[in-house]
Amino acid sequence: TGAITVDEGFVNTGSTESAITFLNGEEGILRYRGYAIETLAENCDFVEVCYLLLHGELPDAAQIDAFRTDLRQHSMLHEDMRKFFDGFQHDAHPMAILSSVIHALSTFYADSLDVNNPDHVHRCSMRLLAKAPTIAAYAHKKSIGQPYVYPDNELGYCENFLQMMFSVPAEKYEISKVAAKALNLLLIVHADHEQNCSTSTVRMVGSSDANLFASISAGVAALSGPLHGGANEACVAMLDQIRDDGADVEKYVDMAKDKSNGFRLMGFGHRVYKSFDPRAQIIKQVCHDLIEEGHINDPIFEIAKKLEQVALTDEYFVERKLYPNVDFYSGVIYRALGIPVEMFTVLFAIGRMPGWIAHWQEMRDSPGKRIYRPRQIYTGPTERDFVALKDR
Ligand code: CMC
Repeated sequence: TGAITVDEGFVNTGSTESAITFLNGEEGILRYRGYAIETLAENCDFVEVCYLLLHGELPDAAQIDAFRTDLRQHSMLHEDMRKFFDGFQHDAHPMAILSSVIHALSTFYADSLDVNNPDHVHRCSMRLLAKAPTIAAYAHKKSIGQPYVYPDNELGYCENFLQMMFSVPAEKYEISKVAAKALNLLLIVHADHEQNCSTSTVRMVGSSDANLFASISAGVAALSGPLHGGANEACVAMLDQIRDDGADVEKYVDMAKDKSNGFRLMGFGHRVYKSFDPRAQIIKQVCHDLIEEGHINDPIFEIAKKLEQVALTDEYFVERKLYPNVDFYSGVIYRALGIPVEMFTVLFAIGRMPGWIAHWQEMRDSPGKRIYRPRQIYTGPTERDFVALKDR
């Protein structure tokens, strides 16, 4: 194997070749299967982007119709699965519920264990895409003590999710077109991001021939950390704190520069982007649109803009090329849509689902596929004499 070099955090280690997502961090370019994120965000809905990521090509009219029909057939959860939700504490974090329930799907669908059968894998992929919003909405309903709302297959993907989240049987619920459009955009910009922590986790777990549900469940767990998907939640908490603390943005920028306190500006910085994160640009524009149309009336948006402006002109942030990332403004929108803060990362997971699945499949299809098994440089004690318990 030759000499081993350690690359802590895999800063400069390519784990694979991939044909799914192109990312140029210096210039702030992001493309799925060759299509610019800005173009997809403007012209597609999330389901088309799912098709693109999974199949490598944009669908024609017949293909997308068939794909939507296929998805609709899988949107419901097995009735026995509903009982799962009763077993969680009312205040359980929905990311933990999402990860657990996704793993449990393999106990309901034995065909998922046959990872070499393309028909089974396809069915499991569709189940994941279709059921993720249902699981997420049930987790939310459980936390607020309202009845679960079944999916409605007449509705679009985002509309259906909003209805399952917010409608109650006693009242007529009107789905907001603006909310569905904003959600659609957020899901698109989260759909893939090459070898990030959760996607690498999905590939690593899947490399042992673990089934798709097990691998994606591990990806959800990886995404839950505050340095990864959990940053959107942490960012809104930070913006609220700044607001409550007199909106003194400069004070928090100074705090972030001070290494002794462990505080970082949440939603700032990225391992790959050393320029504007194109996803943050799209999301910021959505924020502006929502404000203009009167849908956002949240002081934290003004605080976020001010914070961005101060940080982007501060030497510390300039030198280190720290820019707002996708999580900086996404929480502001989620909150404007009425989505509770603990659900933010769940939304990220729903968006990332097609990316995870596409990477799992690409990893399996790779002609050189082997189990992921990094090496290490051992730094523990050299061989020692054993001392019996009575003599220690
Ligand atoms: N606030 C203050 N300083 C920062 C920040 C920040 N948000 N991010 C990085 N730095 C500093 C860091 O202290 C280091 O300084 P120095 O060179 O003096 O030691 C330098 O910038 C490089 O940072 P790093 O931690 O070595 O960079 P990384 O590539 O290991 O980490 C990151 C990337 C995203 C984890 C990090 O920037 C961070 O913690 N950001 C805040 C959390 C966040 O917003 N995460 C969401 C990432 S985007 C969505 C996703 O991928 O899930």
